[in-house]
Amino acid sequence: MPVIAVIGAQWGDEGKGKIVDLLAEKAHMVVRFSGGSNAGHTVVNPCGEFKMHLIPAGIFHREVTCIIGNGVVIDPAVFLEEIEALKSQDVSVDRLFVSDRAHLIMPYHLQLDALEEESRGSGAIGTTKRGIGPAYMDKVGRLGIRTGDLLERDAFLERLRLVLEQKNRILTRVYQAQPLVLEEIYEKYCHYGELLAPFIRETDLMVEEALERKQKVLLEGAQGTLLDVDFGTYPYVTSTTTMTGGACSGLGLSPLKLDGIAGVFKAYITRVGGGPMPTELLDETGELIREHAHERGATTGRPRRCGWFDAVVGRFSARVNGFSSFILTRLDILSILPSIKICTAYRHDGKTLTSPPSSVAMLARCEPLYEELPGWQTDISDIRRFEDLPGEARTYVERLEELLNCPVSIISVGERREQTIMVKELL
Ligand code: IMP
Repeated sequence: MPVIAVIGAQWGDEGKGKIVDLLAEKAHMVVRFSGGSNAGHTVVNPCGEFKMHLIPAGIFHREVTCIIGNGVVIDPAVFLEEIEALKSQDVSVDRLFVSDRAHLIMPYHLQLDALEEESRGSGAIGTTKRGIGPAYMDKVGRLGIRTGDLLERDAFLERLRLVLEQKNRILTRVYQAQPLVLEEIYEKYCHYGELLAPFIRETDLMVEEALERKQKVLLEGAQGTLLDVDFGTYPYVTSTTTMTGGACSGLGLSPLKLDGIAGVFKAYITRVGGGPMPTELLDETGELIREHAHERGATTGRPRRCGWFDAVVGRFSARVNGFSSFILTRLDILSILPSIKICTAYRHDGKTLTSPPSSVAMLARCEPLYEELPGWQTDISDIRRFEDLPGEARTYVERLEELLNCPVSIISVGERREQTIMVKELL
Protein backbone atom coordinates (compact mmCIF):
# COMPACT_ATOMS: atom_id res chain seq x y z
CA MET A 1 0.00 0.00 0.00
CA PRO A 2 1.44 3.37 -0.90
CA VAL A 3 3.23 5.85 1.23
CA ILE A 4 3.25 9.12 -0.70
CA ALA A 5 5.13 12.25 0.29
CA VAL A 6 3.83 15.64 -0.85
CA ILE A 7 6.77 18.04 -0.86
CA GLY A 8 6.94 21.79 -1.50
CA ALA A 9 9.19 22.28 -4.51
CA GLN A 10 9.69 26.06 -4.46
CA TRP A 11 9.80 28.67 -1.66
CA GLY A 12 6.73 27.34 0.16
CA ASP A 13 3.09 28.36 -0.34
CA GLU A 14 2.78 26.09 -3.38
CA GLY A 15 -0.74 25.05 -2.41
CA LYS A 16 0.09 21.83 -0.56
CA GLY A 17 -2.86 22.32 1.81
CA LYS A 18 -5.45 21.90 -0.91
CA ILE A 19 -3.62 18.92 -2.40
CA VAL A 20 -3.31 17.10 0.92
CA ASP A 21 -6.94 17.84 1.77
CA LEU A 22 -7.89 16.35 -1.60
CA LEU A 23 -5.64 13.28 -1.48
CA ALA A 24 -6.57 12.59 2.14
CA GLU A 25 -9.95 11.39 0.85
CA LYS A 26 -8.21 8.14 -0.07
CA ALA A 27 -5.70 8.00 2.79
CA HIS A 28 -5.90 6.29 6.17
CA MET A 29 -3.28 8.49 7.76
CA VAL A 30 -1.89 11.98 7.10
CA VAL A 31 1.35 12.96 8.79
CA ARG A 32 3.21 16.27 9.23
CA PHE A 33 6.94 15.79 9.66
CA SER A 34 8.69 19.18 9.83
CA GLY A 35 8.38 22.88 10.53
CA GLY A 36 5.94 24.41 12.96
CA SER A 37 3.44 27.23 13.04
CA ASN A 38 5.53 29.12 10.47
CA ALA A 39 3.56 27.05 7.93
CA GLY A 40 0.22 28.31 6.76
CA HIS A 41 -1.96 25.95 4.78
CA THR A 42 -5.17 27.43 3.43
CA VAL A 43 -7.86 24.84 2.90
CA VAL A 44 -11.25 25.56 1.35
CA ASN A 45 -13.64 22.61 1.50
CA PRO A 46 -17.28 21.82 2.35
CA CYS A 47 -16.46 22.32 6.07
CA GLY A 48 -15.47 25.98 5.42
CA GLU A 49 -12.25 27.94 4.89
CA PHE A 50 -9.39 27.22 7.27
CA LYS A 51 -5.87 28.54 7.76
CA MET A 52 -3.95 25.65 9.28
CA HIS A 53 -0.52 26.11 10.83
CA LEU A 54 0.17 22.85 12.64
CA ILE A 55 -2.64 20.38 12.23
CA PRO A 56 -2.40 18.24 9.08
CA ALA A 57 -4.83 19.12 6.31
CA GLY A 58 -6.20 15.53 6.53
CA ILE A 59 -8.18 16.50 9.65
CA PHE A 60 -11.30 17.24 7.58
CA HIS A 61 -11.81 13.56 6.79
CA ARG A 62 -13.42 11.77 9.72
CA GLU A 63 -11.80 8.41 9.04
CA VAL A 64 -8.27 9.74 8.63
CA THR A 65 -5.76 9.55 11.48
CA CYS A 66 -3.67 12.74 11.61
CA ILE A 67 -0.23 12.77 13.11
CA ILE A 68 2.19 15.54 14.01
CA GLY A 69 5.55 13.80 13.93
CA ASN A 70 8.70 14.21 15.99
CA GLY A 71 10.26 16.52 13.39
CA VAL A 72 7.67 19.25 14.00
CA VAL A 73 8.11 21.98 16.64
CA ILE A 74 4.87 22.69 18.46
CA ASP A 75 3.66 25.95 19.90
CA PRO A 76 1.03 24.64 22.35
CA ALA A 77 -0.93 27.89 22.25
CA VAL A 78 -1.26 27.72 18.44
CA PHE A 79 -2.06 24.00 18.55
CA LEU A 80 -4.83 24.45 21.13
CA GLU A 81 -6.24 27.48 19.30
CA GLU A 82 -6.42 25.49 16.08
CA ILE A 83 -8.20 22.67 17.84
CA GLU A 84 -10.78 25.08 19.23
CA ALA A 85 -11.30 26.65 15.80
CA LEU A 86 -11.84 23.21 14.24
CA LYS A 87 -14.21 22.06 16.98
CA SER A 88 -16.21 25.27 16.67
CA GLN A 89 -16.86 24.33 13.04
CA ASP A 90 -17.76 20.73 13.96
CA VAL A 91 -14.50 19.22 12.71
CA SER A 92 -13.57 16.31 14.96
CA VAL A 93 -10.05 16.08 16.40
CA ASP A 94 -10.56 12.60 17.89
CA ARG A 95 -8.05 11.04 15.51
CA LEU A 96 -5.30 13.62 15.96
CA PHE A 97 -2.04 12.64 17.68
CA VAL A 98 1.24 14.34 18.50
CA SER A 99 4.63 12.70 18.87
CA ASP A 100 6.03 12.50 22.39
CA ARG A 101 9.38 13.42 20.81
CA ALA A 102 8.19 16.64 19.12
CA HIS A 103 9.94 19.71 20.52
CA LEU A 104 8.01 22.61 22.03
CA ILE A 105 8.16 26.27 21.17
CA MET A 106 8.83 28.02 24.47
CA PRO A 107 8.23 31.73 25.27
CA TYR A 108 11.97 32.49 24.97
CA HIS A 109 11.99 31.06 21.42
CA LEU A 110 9.39 33.60 20.33
CA GLN A 111 11.24 36.41 22.04
CA LEU A 112 14.65 35.41 20.68
CA ASP A 113 13.30 35.01 17.13
CA ALA A 114 12.16 38.66 17.21
CA LEU A 115 15.35 39.93 18.88
CA GLU A 116 17.67 38.01 16.55
CA GLU A 117 15.82 39.29 13.50
CA GLU A 118 16.05 42.86 14.76
CA SER A 119 19.77 42.50 15.39
CA ARG A 120 20.34 41.28 11.81
CA GLY A 121 19.30 44.71 10.53
CA SER A 122 19.34 44.87 6.73
CA GLY A 123 20.44 41.21 6.63
CA ALA A 124 17.19 40.07 8.30
CA ILE A 125 15.87 36.72 7.07
CA GLY A 126 12.27 37.87 7.29
CA THR A 127 11.27 35.00 9.57
CA THR A 128 7.66 34.44 10.54
CA LYS A 129 8.66 35.23 14.16
CA ARG A 130 7.06 32.01 15.33
CA GLY A 131 10.16 30.93 17.26
CA ILE A 132 11.17 28.32 14.68
CA GLY A 133 14.92 29.00 14.37
CA PRO A 134 15.56 29.29 18.12
CA ALA A 135 13.51 26.12 18.82
CA TYR A 136 15.47 24.03 16.30
CA MET A 137 18.72 25.52 17.60
CA ASP A 138 17.79 24.22 21.03
CA LYS A 139 16.84 20.83 19.61
CA VAL A 140 20.24 20.46 17.97
CA GLY A 141 22.00 22.13 20.92
CA ARG A 142 20.37 19.58 23.25
CA LEU A 143 18.50 22.23 25.19
CA GLY A 144 15.06 21.45 23.82
CA ILE A 145 11.94 20.52 25.75
CA ARG A 146 9.66 17.91 24.20
CA THR A 147 5.93 17.29 24.50
CA GLY A 148 6.62 14.07 26.43
CA ASP A 149 8.60 16.07 29.02
CA LEU A 150 5.41 17.84 30.09
CA LEU A 151 4.08 14.55 31.41
CA GLU A 152 6.97 14.20 33.91
CA ARG A 153 6.49 17.33 35.99
CA ASP A 154 9.45 17.11 38.39
CA ALA A 155 11.92 16.34 35.65
CA PHE A 156 10.35 19.08 33.53
CA LEU A 157 10.87 21.67 36.29
CA GLU A 158 14.54 20.76 36.61
CA ARG A 159 15.09 20.83 32.90
CA LEU A 160 13.30 24.16 32.50
CA ARG A 161 15.35 25.64 35.37
CA LEU A 162 18.58 24.65 33.62
CA VAL A 163 17.53 25.89 30.19
CA LEU A 164 15.97 29.12 31.44
CA GLU A 165 19.11 30.12 33.32
CA GLN A 166 20.97 30.04 30.02
CA LYS A 167 18.20 31.82 28.10
CA ASN A 168 17.90 34.53 30.71
CA ARG A 169 21.64 35.16 30.48
CA ILE A 170 21.24 35.69 26.73
CA LEU A 171 18.12 37.82 27.09
CA THR A 172 19.58 40.10 29.73
CA ARG A 173 23.26 40.28 28.74
CA VAL A 174 23.08 40.16 24.95
CA TYR A 175 19.75 41.88 24.34
CA GLN A 176 19.30 43.88 27.58
CA ALA A 177 15.78 42.41 27.85
CA GLN A 178 13.89 41.43 30.99
CA PRO A 179 14.50 37.89 32.32
CA LEU A 180 11.63 35.39 32.12
CA VAL A 181 10.17 33.93 35.31
CA LEU A 182 10.60 30.20 35.82
CA GLU A 183 7.42 29.62 37.85
CA GLU A 184 5.24 31.44 35.31
CA ILE A 185 6.47 29.36 32.39
CA TYR A 186 6.34 26.17 34.43
CA GLU A 187 2.73 26.66 35.44
CA LYS A 188 1.63 27.68 31.98
CA TYR A 189 3.32 24.69 30.36
CA CYS A 190 2.05 22.24 33.00
CA HIS A 191 -1.43 23.44 32.08
CA TYR A 192 -0.62 22.93 28.40
CA GLY A 193 0.66 19.47 29.33
CA GLU A 194 -2.75 18.55 30.78
CA LEU A 195 -4.49 19.75 27.63
CA LEU A 196 -1.99 18.07 25.30
CA ALA A 197 -1.82 14.75 27.18
CA PRO A 198 -4.73 13.05 25.35
CA PHE A 199 -2.98 13.74 22.02
CA ILE A 200 0.55 12.62 22.93
CA ARG A 201 1.60 9.22 21.57
CA GLU A 202 4.58 7.26 20.28
CA THR A 203 3.59 8.26 16.78
CA ASP A 204 6.47 6.42 15.08
CA LEU A 205 4.83 3.19 16.28
CA MET A 206 1.44 4.33 15.00
CA VAL A 207 2.89 4.92 11.53
CA GLU A 208 4.57 1.52 11.63
CA GLU A 209 1.31 -0.17 12.65
CA ALA A 210 -0.57 1.59 9.83
CA LEU A 211 1.97 0.24 7.35
CA GLU A 212 1.68 -3.27 8.80
CA ARG A 213 -2.06 -3.04 8.27
CA LYS A 214 -1.34 -2.04 4.64
CA GLN A 215 -2.93 1.37 5.08
CA LYS A 216 -2.34 4.37 2.82
CA VAL A 217 -0.19 7.03 4.40
CA LEU A 218 0.23 10.56 3.12
CA LEU A 219 3.22 12.59 4.27
CA GLU A 220 2.45 16.31 4.31
CA GLY A 221 5.44 18.54 3.69
CA ALA A 222 5.71 22.08 5.02
CA GLN A 223 7.57 25.03 3.49
CA GLY A 224 9.51 24.29 0.30
CA THR A 225 12.78 22.87 -0.97
CA LEU A 226 14.33 26.30 -1.53
CA LEU A 227 13.76 27.01 2.17
CA ASP A 228 15.51 23.77 3.16
CA VAL A 229 18.31 24.35 5.65
CA ASP A 230 20.81 22.43 3.46
CA PHE A 231 19.62 22.89 -0.12
CA GLY A 232 17.69 26.14 0.14
CA THR A 233 18.98 29.66 -0.46
CA TYR A 234 21.01 29.66 2.76
CA PRO A 235 20.91 31.66 5.05
CA TYR A 236 17.49 32.83 3.79
CA VAL A 237 15.91 29.54 4.73
CA THR A 238 13.92 27.97 7.51
CA SER A 239 15.61 25.72 10.08
CA THR A 240 14.42 22.30 8.93
CA THR A 241 14.89 19.66 6.29
CA THR A 242 11.84 20.47 4.23
CA MET A 243 12.73 17.86 1.61
CA THR A 244 11.88 14.17 1.29
CA GLY A 245 14.68 13.12 3.65
CA GLY A 246 13.09 15.16 6.41
CA ALA A 247 9.98 13.00 6.14
CA CYS A 248 11.95 9.94 7.23
CA SER A 249 13.80 11.50 10.17
CA GLY A 250 10.78 13.61 11.11
CA LEU A 251 8.60 10.53 11.58
CA GLY A 252 10.88 7.59 12.20
CA LEU A 253 10.15 6.10 8.78
CA SER A 254 12.56 4.09 6.65
CA PRO A 255 13.23 5.64 3.19
CA LEU A 256 12.56 2.15 1.78
CA LYS A 257 8.90 2.54 2.75
CA LEU A 258 8.31 5.47 0.38
CA ASP A 259 6.36 4.57 -2.77
CA GLY A 260 6.12 8.00 -4.34
CA ILE A 261 7.31 11.57 -3.91
CA ALA A 262 5.16 14.28 -5.44
CA GLY A 263 6.69 17.74 -5.70
CA VAL A 264 4.21 20.61 -5.58
CA PHE A 265 4.97 23.56 -7.88
CA LYS A 266 2.93 26.68 -8.35
CA ALA A 267 2.47 27.53 -12.06
CA TYR A 268 4.46 30.71 -11.36
CA ILE A 269 6.67 31.30 -8.32
CA THR A 270 6.34 33.20 -5.04
CA ARG A 271 8.48 33.92 -2.02
CA VAL A 272 7.93 35.67 1.32
CA GLY A 273 10.80 37.03 3.39
CA GLY A 274 14.31 37.99 2.28
CA GLY A 275 16.78 36.38 -0.09
CA PRO A 276 17.34 36.30 -3.85
CA MET A 277 14.69 35.17 -6.31
CA PRO A 278 16.03 35.47 -9.87
CA THR A 279 12.68 35.50 -11.69
CA GLU A 280 11.02 38.02 -9.37
CA LEU A 281 8.72 40.42 -11.24
CA LEU A 282 9.03 43.91 -9.83
CA ASP A 283 6.75 45.34 -12.52
CA GLU A 284 3.02 45.51 -13.17
CA THR A 285 2.89 41.83 -14.22
CA GLY A 286 4.13 40.84 -10.73
CA GLU A 287 1.56 43.16 -9.19
CA LEU A 288 -1.18 41.76 -11.43
CA ILE A 289 -0.40 38.18 -10.38
CA ARG A 290 -0.19 39.15 -6.69
CA GLU A 291 -3.53 40.94 -6.74
CA HIS A 292 -5.35 38.43 -8.91
CA ALA A 293 -4.09 35.46 -6.90
CA HIS A 294 -4.36 37.18 -3.48
CA GLU A 295 -0.73 36.32 -2.83
CA ARG A 296 -0.34 37.13 0.86
CA GLY A 297 1.31 34.99 3.51
CA ALA A 298 -1.22 32.78 5.34
CA THR A 299 0.79 33.13 8.58
CA THR A 300 2.05 36.71 8.49
CA GLY A 301 -0.22 38.41 5.93
CA ARG A 302 2.89 39.79 4.16
CA PRO A 303 2.55 40.35 0.38
CA ARG A 304 4.31 37.53 -1.47
CA ARG A 305 6.96 38.34 -4.07
CA CYS A 306 5.79 36.94 -7.42
CA GLY A 307 7.77 35.82 -10.46
CA TRP A 308 7.88 33.57 -13.52
CA PHE A 309 8.27 29.81 -13.18
CA ASP A 310 11.94 29.14 -12.56
CA ALA A 311 12.82 25.79 -14.11
CA VAL A 312 16.45 26.08 -12.95
CA VAL A 313 15.50 25.83 -9.29
CA GLY A 314 12.62 23.53 -10.30
CA ARG A 315 14.90 20.96 -11.90
CA PHE A 316 17.24 21.20 -8.91
CA SER A 317 14.31 20.62 -6.59
CA ALA A 318 13.16 17.59 -8.60
CA ARG A 319 16.69 16.16 -8.49
CA VAL A 320 17.48 16.62 -4.78
CA ASN A 321 14.07 15.27 -3.74
CA GLY A 322 13.79 12.53 -6.35
CA PHE A 323 10.25 13.49 -7.37
CA SER A 324 8.39 10.62 -9.01
CA SER A 325 5.81 13.12 -10.29
CA PHE A 326 4.87 16.74 -9.84
CA ILE A 327 1.67 18.55 -8.96
CA LEU A 328 1.04 21.90 -10.63
CA THR A 329 -1.14 24.36 -8.73
CA ARG A 330 -2.82 27.65 -9.62
CA LEU A 331 -2.61 27.13 -13.38
CA ASP A 332 -5.89 29.08 -13.60
CA ILE A 333 -4.11 32.23 -12.39
CA LEU A 334 -2.02 32.37 -15.57
CA SER A 335 -5.23 32.59 -17.65
CA ILE A 336 -5.09 36.39 -17.28
CA LEU A 337 -1.77 36.73 -19.14
CA PRO A 338 -1.32 37.11 -22.93
CA SER A 339 2.05 35.36 -22.80
CA ILE A 340 3.97 33.44 -20.17
CA LYS A 341 7.69 33.16 -19.54
CA ILE A 342 9.66 30.23 -18.14
CA CYS A 343 13.21 30.66 -16.93
CA THR A 344 15.25 27.82 -18.43
CA ALA A 345 18.80 28.87 -17.42
CA TYR A 346 20.74 31.66 -15.72
CA ARG A 347 23.44 33.90 -17.10
CA HIS A 348 26.23 34.54 -14.60
CA ASP A 349 29.56 36.24 -15.35
CA GLY A 350 29.24 35.38 -19.03
CA LYS A 351 28.47 31.71 -18.32
CA THR A 352 25.19 29.84 -18.69
CA LEU A 353 24.12 27.98 -15.56
CA THR A 354 21.49 25.23 -15.57
CA SER A 355 21.64 24.56 -11.82
CA PRO A 356 21.41 27.22 -9.10
CA PRO A 357 24.67 28.21 -7.39
CA SER A 358 24.86 27.48 -3.64
CA SER A 359 25.96 31.04 -2.86
CA VAL A 360 23.15 33.55 -2.47
CA ALA A 361 25.57 36.32 -3.49
CA MET A 362 26.04 34.55 -6.82
CA LEU A 363 22.35 33.73 -7.14
CA ALA A 364 21.51 37.40 -6.64
CA ARG A 365 23.69 38.23 -9.67
CA CYS A 366 22.12 35.58 -11.92
CA GLU A 367 20.17 36.90 -14.83
CA PRO A 368 17.28 34.64 -15.86
CA LEU A 369 17.16 33.43 -19.47
CA TYR A 370 13.57 33.09 -20.60
CA GLU A 371 11.55 31.17 -23.08
CA GLU A 372 8.20 32.79 -23.91
CA LEU A 373 5.04 30.80 -24.56
CA PRO A 374 1.64 32.10 -25.66
CA GLY A 375 -1.05 32.39 -22.98
CA TRP A 376 -4.57 30.92 -23.33
CA GLN A 377 -6.57 33.83 -21.86
CA THR A 378 -9.65 31.80 -21.19
CA ASP A 379 -11.12 30.54 -17.92
CA ILE A 380 -9.94 26.99 -17.18
CA SER A 381 -11.30 26.64 -13.65
CA ASP A 382 -14.17 24.35 -14.75
CA ILE A 383 -11.95 21.99 -16.76
CA ARG A 384 -11.47 18.51 -15.26
CA ARG A 385 -9.57 16.59 -17.98
CA PHE A 386 -6.09 17.35 -19.30
CA GLU A 387 -7.18 16.94 -22.90
CA ASP A 388 -9.88 19.60 -22.43
CA LEU A 389 -7.35 22.30 -21.50
CA PRO A 390 -6.64 24.90 -24.22
CA GLY A 391 -3.70 23.85 -26.41
CA GLU A 392 -1.50 26.66 -25.02
CA ALA A 393 -2.08 25.48 -21.43
CA ARG A 394 -1.24 21.88 -22.39
CA THR A 395 1.91 23.09 -24.12
CA TYR A 396 2.91 25.01 -21.00
CA VAL A 397 2.47 21.95 -18.76
CA GLU A 398 4.24 19.65 -21.22
CA ARG A 399 7.16 22.06 -21.43
CA LEU A 400 7.43 22.02 -17.63
CA GLU A 401 7.45 18.20 -17.71
CA GLU A 402 10.40 18.33 -20.11
CA LEU A 403 12.29 20.94 -18.13
CA LEU A 404 11.72 19.23 -14.78
CA ASN A 405 12.36 15.82 -16.28
CA CYS A 406 9.35 14.55 -14.38
CA PRO A 407 5.70 13.71 -15.28
CA VAL A 408 2.77 15.76 -14.01
CA SER A 409 0.24 13.85 -11.86
CA ILE A 410 -2.24 16.53 -10.73
CA ILE A 411 -3.13 20.01 -11.97
CA SER A 412 -5.07 22.38 -9.76
CA VAL A 413 -7.25 24.97 -11.49
CA GLY A 414 -8.98 26.56 -8.50
CA GLU A 415 -9.04 26.52 -4.72
CA ARG A 416 -11.91 24.05 -4.26
CA ARG A 417 -11.32 20.29 -4.07
CA GLU A 418 -13.21 19.58 -7.28
CA GLN A 419 -11.24 22.16 -9.27
CA THR A 420 -8.63 19.57 -10.05
CA ILE A 421 -7.37 17.63 -13.06
CA MET A 422 -6.21 14.14 -12.03
CA VAL A 423 -3.72 13.12 -14.67
CA LYS A 424 -2.58 10.13 -12.62
CA GLU A 425 -3.95 8.67 -9.39
CA LEU A 426 -1.36 8.88 -6.62
CA LEU A 427 -3.02 6.92 -3.81
P1 IMP B 1 11.09 30.90 9.78
O1 IMP B 1 10.75 29.54 9.30
O2 IMP B 1 9.95 31.59 10.48
O3 IMP B 1 12.35 30.92 10.59
O4 IMP B 1 11.37 31.83 8.49
C1 IMP B 1 12.50 31.62 7.64
C2 IMP B 1 12.15 31.92 6.20
O5 IMP B 1 11.24 30.93 5.72
C3 IMP B 1 11.47 33.26 5.97
O6 IMP B 1 11.85 33.76 4.72
C4 IMP B 1 9.99 32.90 5.94
O7 IMP B 1 9.23 33.85 5.21
C5 IMP B 1 10.06 31.56 5.23
N1 IMP B 1 8.92 30.67 5.55
C6 IMP B 1 8.75 29.95 6.67
N2 IMP B 1 7.61 29.24 6.60
C7 IMP B 1 7.07 29.51 5.41
C8 IMP B 1 5.89 29.04 4.74
O8 IMP B 1 5.12 28.23 5.23
N3 IMP B 1 5.68 29.54 3.49
C9 IMP B 1 6.54 30.41 2.90
N4 IMP B 1 7.64 30.88 3.49
C10 IMP B 1 7.91 30.43 4.74
